[in-house]
Amino acid sequence: MKHLLSIADLSKDEAIEVLDTAAELARLSEGTVKKFPTLRGRTVVNLFFEDSTRTRISFEAAAKRLSADVINFAAKGSSVSKGESLKDTALTLQAMGADAVVIRHGASGAAHQLAKQEWMKGVVINAGDGTHEHPTQALLDAFTIRRHLKENQGDLSGIKVGIIGDILHSRVARSNILLLKKLGAEVVLIAPPTLIPVGVAKWGVGVSYSLDDQIKSLDVVMALRVQKERMNDLYFPTEREYARGYGLTSERMKQMKTKSIVMHPGPMNRGLEISAESADSQRSVIVEQVANGVSVRMAVLYLTLGGATFKELASSGESL
Ligand code: CP
Repeated sequence: MKHLLSIADLSKDEAIEVLDTAAELARLSEGTVKKFPTLRGRTVVNLFFEDSTRTRISFEAAAKRLSADVINFAAKGSSVSKGESLKDTALTLQAMGADAVVIRHGASGAAHQLAKQEWMKGVVINAGDGTHEHPTQALLDAFTIRRHLKENQGDLSGIKVGIIGDILHSRVARSNILLLKKLGAEVVLIAPPTLIPVGVAKWGVGVSYSLDDQIKSLDVVMALRVQKERMNDLYFPTEREYARGYGLTSERMKQMKTKSIVMHPGPMNRGLEISAESADSQRSVIVEQVANGVSVRMAVLYLTLGGATFKELASSGESL
């Protein structure tokens, strides 16, 4: 893996290798070893042009657990506010010797631009670009599903995932659809017609306008945040009406299958797409998704910067 820009760039085997590597790193981290020397002397830059809590902090934790040096760059408070371009920002970071850049940007395609224009010589990892993709979120979601429903092994065949809500503005949904399908899961999008993108018929997923019709058949109930900051139009009459049709409530959760789980990428609008009781329920794996994000991002940094696959390293007996 040279960069991680889109889930479309990964083969099924490569995606499973990320999950297997993350599982091994998580297993090792549960023991006495909390820090690995693998990326000692390498520099990872977190280049965030949009706000983030989970992704930025977990990339920082992941890089530090692999002994990399980390530089955190937030556009707010930088020379970006004086008009400096993405290109000049990237060239500046390159001059400082960045080996990898983790980029979040409001423009779809920003990570591709950084990698393809070769403004950066190092690895580029997409941490969310506009409404396009958020590949590491999809990988940590798949990792979490596999841990709960597939005994941490293989692919996701036989699993039905409902992705509910603001599909239109969601890079999480786009990356998840690509990855879940690649791993053999069945995907159904559940939303009001106004929040389903045009052209969805070509995506190879089911579409439903009724959560109540679908909830009984789902193994994974994945609620999405209503992205008010990207909405410049009226997509539903009132928040109350949206919550009534598409909010995950305790009442609706009673319809779920015995072993099915509740997910949300965060940050949540409690009381809108998910009730506080549902978010905090026994079936919710939302906090675990955040913890798994560190292992998955360690795996991505390891596989892109480490220069060898986990299996190769393990078989050569080299220490992590
Ligand atoms: N899920 C996610 O990307 O969260 P943050 O915006 O807090 O990084």
